Amino acid sequence: MIIRKTPAEIETMARAGAISAATIAHVADHLRPGITTGELDSIAGEFIRSQGAVSTSKGYNGYPSEICISPNDVVVHGIPGSHLVEDGDVITIDVGVTLDGFIADSAFTFAVGAVDSKVERLLEVGRQALAAGIGKAHVGNRVGDVSNAVQLIVEAAGFSVVRSLVGHGVGRHYHEDPHVPNFGMPGRGPRLSEGMTIAIEPMIAAGKPEVHIADDGWTIFTDDGSTAVHFEHTVAVTESGPRILTPRVGLPKEIEHGLLR
Ligand code: MF3
Ligand code: CO
Repeated sequence: MIIRKTPAEIETMARAGAISAATIAHVADHLRPGITTGELDSIAGEFIRSQGAVSTSKGYNGYPSEICISPNDVVVHGIPGSHLVEDGDVITIDVGVTLDGFIADSAFTFAVGAVDSKVERLLEVGRQALAAGIGKAHVGNRVGDVSNAVQLIVEAAGFSVVRSLVGHGVGRHYHEDPHVPNFGMPGRGPRLSEGMTIAIEPMIAAGKPEVHIADDGWTIFTDDGSTAVHFEHTVAVTESGPRILTPRVGLPKEIEHGLLR
Protein backbone atom coordinates (compact mmCIF):
# COMPACT_ATOMS: atom_id res chain seq x y z
CA MET A 1 0.00 0.00 0.00
CA ILE A 2 1.39 3.37 -1.01
CA ILE A 3 0.91 6.00 1.72
CA ARG A 4 0.49 9.50 0.31
CA LYS A 5 1.45 12.47 2.46
CA THR A 6 -0.41 15.69 3.17
CA PRO A 7 1.27 19.01 2.38
CA ALA A 8 1.97 19.46 6.11
CA GLU A 9 3.58 16.01 6.29
CA ILE A 10 5.73 16.83 3.27
CA GLU A 11 6.90 20.01 5.03
CA THR A 12 7.95 17.89 8.03
CA MET A 13 9.81 15.54 5.70
CA ALA A 14 11.52 18.55 4.12
CA ARG A 15 12.74 19.62 7.58
CA ALA A 16 14.07 16.10 8.13
CA GLY A 17 15.57 16.25 4.65
CA ALA A 18 17.45 19.45 5.40
CA ILE A 19 19.04 17.72 8.40
CA SER A 20 19.95 14.65 6.34
CA ALA A 21 21.62 16.87 3.73
CA ALA A 22 23.41 18.93 6.37
CA THR A 23 24.67 15.75 8.01
CA ILE A 24 26.19 14.56 4.74
CA ALA A 25 27.89 17.95 4.34
CA HIS A 26 29.13 17.89 7.95
CA VAL A 27 30.60 14.41 7.54
CA ALA A 28 32.17 15.49 4.23
CA ASP A 29 33.93 18.33 6.08
CA HIS A 30 35.71 15.69 8.16
CA LEU A 31 36.32 13.19 5.36
CA ARG A 32 40.05 13.10 4.82
CA PRO A 33 42.90 10.57 4.87
CA GLY A 34 43.69 9.37 8.39
CA ILE A 35 40.18 9.44 9.86
CA THR A 36 38.31 6.19 10.44
CA THR A 37 34.75 5.58 9.34
CA GLY A 38 33.91 4.87 12.98
CA GLU A 39 35.04 8.39 13.91
CA LEU A 40 32.94 9.80 11.08
CA ASP A 41 29.93 7.89 12.44
CA SER A 42 30.32 9.49 15.88
CA ILE A 43 30.59 12.91 14.26
CA ALA A 44 27.41 12.21 12.30
CA GLY A 45 25.50 11.02 15.36
CA GLU A 46 26.44 14.09 17.40
CA PHE A 47 25.45 16.35 14.54
CA ILE A 48 22.06 14.67 14.00
CA ARG A 49 21.25 15.00 17.71
CA SER A 50 22.38 18.66 17.72
CA GLN A 51 19.69 19.28 15.10
CA GLY A 52 17.00 17.76 17.29
CA ALA A 53 16.63 14.69 15.07
CA VAL A 54 17.47 11.02 15.50
CA SER A 55 19.23 8.55 13.26
CA THR A 56 16.71 6.35 11.50
CA SER A 57 19.31 3.71 10.76
CA LYS A 58 20.48 3.07 14.32
CA GLY A 59 18.52 0.09 15.62
CA TYR A 60 16.68 -0.42 12.31
CA ASN A 61 16.44 -4.22 12.06
CA GLY A 62 19.33 -4.22 14.52
CA TYR A 63 21.63 -1.96 12.45
CA PRO A 64 24.38 -0.87 14.87
CA SER A 65 25.47 2.59 13.67
CA GLU A 66 24.23 6.13 13.12
CA ILE A 67 24.77 6.19 9.36
CA CYS A 68 26.02 3.88 6.62
CA ILE A 69 29.54 4.48 5.28
CA SER A 70 30.45 2.38 2.27
CA PRO A 71 34.02 2.49 0.91
CA ASN A 72 35.16 1.45 -2.57
CA ASP A 73 33.66 -1.98 -3.45
CA VAL A 74 31.00 -1.66 -0.75
CA VAL A 75 27.75 -0.72 -2.49
CA VAL A 76 25.59 0.10 0.54
CA HIS A 77 25.04 -0.59 4.25
CA GLY A 78 28.71 -0.37 5.20
CA ILE A 79 29.02 -0.42 9.00
CA PRO A 80 31.37 2.34 10.15
CA GLY A 81 34.38 1.06 12.06
CA SER A 82 38.10 0.61 11.70
CA HIS A 83 38.37 1.45 7.97
CA LEU A 84 41.05 4.14 7.74
CA VAL A 85 40.20 6.62 4.99
CA GLU A 86 42.98 6.85 2.39
CA ASP A 87 43.76 9.01 -0.60
CA GLY A 88 41.94 7.49 -3.58
CA ASP A 89 39.05 6.06 -1.54
CA VAL A 90 35.50 6.35 -2.86
CA ILE A 91 33.21 6.74 0.13
CA THR A 92 29.40 6.74 0.25
CA ILE A 93 27.71 8.53 3.12
CA ASP A 94 24.06 7.43 3.53
CA VAL A 95 21.97 9.24 6.12
CA GLY A 96 18.40 8.58 7.25
CA VAL A 97 17.03 10.91 9.91
CA THR A 98 13.73 11.02 11.74
CA LEU A 99 12.18 14.30 12.81
CA ASP A 100 8.72 14.66 14.35
CA GLY A 101 7.84 11.14 13.22
CA PHE A 102 8.91 11.51 9.59
CA ILE A 103 11.98 10.25 7.79
CA ALA A 104 14.21 11.57 5.02
CA ASP A 105 16.87 9.44 3.37
CA SER A 106 19.79 10.67 1.27
CA ALA A 107 23.19 9.48 0.11
CA PHE A 108 26.20 10.87 -1.73
CA THR A 109 29.46 9.31 -2.87
CA PHE A 110 32.69 11.26 -2.47
CA ALA A 111 36.14 10.75 -3.93
CA VAL A 112 38.91 11.33 -1.39
CA GLY A 113 41.78 13.03 -3.20
CA ALA A 114 42.65 11.88 -6.68
CA VAL A 115 40.84 8.98 -8.34
CA ASP A 116 41.32 7.68 -11.86
CA SER A 117 39.27 9.01 -14.73
CA LYS A 118 37.01 5.96 -14.86
CA VAL A 119 36.00 6.48 -11.24
CA GLU A 120 35.47 10.21 -11.91
CA ARG A 121 33.15 9.18 -14.71
CA LEU A 122 31.34 6.65 -12.49
CA LEU A 123 30.66 9.40 -9.94
CA GLU A 124 29.41 11.75 -12.64
CA VAL A 125 27.15 9.09 -14.16
CA GLY A 126 25.74 8.25 -10.74
CA ARG A 127 24.78 11.88 -10.14
CA GLN A 128 23.32 12.18 -13.64
CA ALA A 129 21.33 8.96 -13.23
CA LEU A 130 19.76 10.26 -10.03
CA ALA A 131 18.91 13.56 -11.71
CA ALA A 132 17.35 11.72 -14.67
CA GLY A 133 15.24 9.56 -12.38
CA ILE A 134 14.04 12.54 -10.38
CA GLY A 135 13.17 14.26 -13.65
CA LYS A 136 10.57 11.55 -14.32
CA ALA A 137 8.92 11.76 -10.88
CA HIS A 138 5.86 13.59 -12.19
CA VAL A 139 2.19 13.07 -11.40
CA GLY A 140 0.79 10.64 -13.98
CA ASN A 141 4.11 8.96 -14.79
CA ARG A 142 4.84 5.47 -13.54
CA VAL A 143 7.63 4.10 -11.38
CA GLY A 144 8.98 2.37 -14.49
CA ASP A 145 9.57 5.76 -16.09
CA VAL A 146 11.88 6.69 -13.21
CA SER A 147 13.56 3.28 -13.27
CA ASN A 148 14.13 3.31 -17.01
CA ALA A 149 15.61 6.83 -16.99
CA VAL A 150 18.18 5.73 -14.42
CA GLN A 151 19.01 2.52 -16.28
CA LEU A 152 19.52 4.25 -19.63
CA ILE A 153 22.07 6.70 -18.22
CA VAL A 154 24.01 4.02 -16.35
CA GLU A 155 24.13 1.47 -19.15
CA ALA A 156 24.87 3.99 -21.91
CA ALA A 157 28.02 4.81 -19.95
CA GLY A 158 29.02 1.14 -19.77
CA PHE A 159 28.40 0.74 -16.04
CA SER A 160 26.08 -1.69 -14.22
CA VAL A 161 22.87 -1.17 -12.29
CA VAL A 162 22.91 -3.24 -9.09
CA ARG A 163 19.53 -4.93 -9.52
CA SER A 164 19.06 -6.63 -6.19
CA LEU A 165 18.85 -3.30 -4.35
CA VAL A 166 16.06 -0.79 -4.96
CA GLY A 167 14.77 2.63 -3.94
CA HIS A 168 11.56 2.85 -1.96
CA GLY A 169 8.70 4.85 -0.60
CA VAL A 170 9.60 6.69 2.61
CA GLY A 171 7.61 8.56 5.26
CA ARG A 172 6.71 7.42 8.77
CA HIS A 173 8.56 4.23 7.84
CA TYR A 174 12.09 3.95 6.42
CA HIS A 175 10.94 1.60 3.69
CA GLU A 176 7.40 1.88 2.32
CA ASP A 177 5.80 0.89 -0.95
CA PRO A 178 6.48 1.21 -3.80
CA HIS A 179 9.79 -0.36 -4.70
CA VAL A 180 11.72 1.95 -7.02
CA PRO A 181 14.12 -0.22 -9.04
CA ASN A 182 16.98 1.32 -10.99
CA PHE A 183 16.04 -0.61 -14.13
CA GLY A 184 12.74 -1.23 -15.83
CA MET A 185 10.31 -0.44 -18.58
CA PRO A 186 8.75 2.96 -19.20
CA GLY A 187 4.99 2.98 -18.65
CA ARG A 188 5.11 0.07 -16.19
CA GLY A 189 4.68 -0.11 -12.45
CA PRO A 190 2.60 1.93 -10.02
CA ARG A 191 1.35 5.32 -11.19
CA LEU A 192 2.84 8.33 -9.42
CA SER A 193 0.35 10.66 -7.79
CA GLU A 194 0.25 13.80 -5.67
CA GLY A 195 1.72 13.31 -2.20
CA MET A 196 3.83 10.23 -2.87
CA THR A 197 7.28 10.44 -1.31
CA ILE A 198 9.96 8.17 -2.71
CA ALA A 199 13.67 7.62 -2.20
CA ILE A 200 15.28 7.41 -5.63
CA GLU A 201 18.72 5.86 -5.25
CA PRO A 202 20.80 4.54 -8.13
CA MET A 203 23.42 2.07 -6.90
CA ILE A 204 25.88 1.42 -9.69
CA ALA A 205 29.05 -0.57 -10.16
CA ALA A 206 31.99 0.11 -12.43
CA GLY A 207 32.14 -3.60 -13.25
CA LYS A 208 29.60 -6.38 -13.02
CA PRO A 209 26.22 -5.96 -11.26
CA GLU A 210 26.38 -8.96 -8.92
CA VAL A 211 26.72 -8.31 -5.20
CA HIS A 212 26.93 -10.30 -1.98
CA ILE A 213 26.34 -9.67 1.68
CA ALA A 214 29.17 -9.99 4.18
CA ASP A 215 29.19 -12.16 7.30
CA ASP A 216 28.17 -9.13 9.39
CA GLY A 217 24.72 -9.43 7.78
CA TRP A 218 24.78 -5.86 6.41
CA THR A 219 27.71 -4.87 4.22
CA ILE A 220 26.96 -5.35 0.51
CA PHE A 221 30.06 -5.81 -1.68
CA THR A 222 30.38 -6.07 -5.44
CA ASP A 223 31.31 -9.66 -6.33
CA ASP A 224 34.05 -8.55 -8.71
CA GLY A 225 35.57 -6.02 -6.32
CA SER A 226 34.76 -3.13 -8.63
CA THR A 227 34.03 0.32 -7.25
CA ALA A 228 30.40 1.19 -6.56
CA VAL A 229 28.66 4.52 -6.06
CA HIS A 230 25.27 5.47 -4.60
CA PHE A 231 23.36 8.72 -4.88
CA GLU A 232 20.00 9.16 -3.19
CA HIS A 233 17.37 11.84 -2.71
CA THR A 234 13.99 11.74 -1.01
CA VAL A 235 11.55 13.24 -3.51
CA ALA A 236 7.91 14.33 -3.17
CA VAL A 237 5.64 13.99 -6.18
CA THR A 238 3.66 17.24 -6.39
CA GLU A 239 1.33 18.86 -8.90
CA SER A 240 4.11 21.35 -9.63
CA GLY A 241 6.63 18.57 -10.29
CA PRO A 242 9.21 16.58 -8.35
CA ARG A 243 10.35 18.28 -5.16
CA ILE A 244 13.71 17.18 -3.74
CA LEU A 245 13.26 17.07 0.05
CA THR A 246 16.99 16.50 0.69
CA PRO A 247 18.60 19.30 -1.38
CA ARG A 248 22.40 19.25 -1.22
CA VAL A 249 24.12 21.80 0.94
CA GLY A 250 27.76 22.56 1.57
CA LEU A 251 29.28 20.39 -1.14
CA PRO A 252 32.20 21.49 -3.30
CA LYS A 253 31.12 24.05 -5.88
CA GLU A 254 31.94 21.88 -8.87
CA ILE A 255 29.41 19.32 -7.61
CA GLU A 256 26.68 21.77 -6.63
CA HIS A 257 27.08 23.45 -9.99
CA GLY A 258 24.78 22.91 -12.93
CA LEU A 259 22.62 19.84 -13.29
CA LEU A 260 24.62 17.64 -10.97
CA ARG A 261 22.64 16.81 -7.90
N1 MF3 B 1 19.52 4.44 4.02
C1 MF3 B 1 19.37 3.13 3.45
C2 MF3 B 1 18.48 3.25 2.24
O1 MF3 B 1 18.82 3.98 1.39
C3 MF3 B 1 18.80 2.18 4.45
C4 MF3 B 1 19.79 1.79 5.44
S1 MF3 B 1 19.11 0.63 6.48
C5 MF3 B 1 20.29 0.54 7.67
O2 MF3 B 1 17.46 2.64 2.09
F1 MF3 B 1 19.77 -0.10 8.64
F2 MF3 B 1 21.35 -0.06 7.15
F3 MF3 B 1 20.65 1.73 8.02
CO1 CO C 1 17.00 4.62 0.72
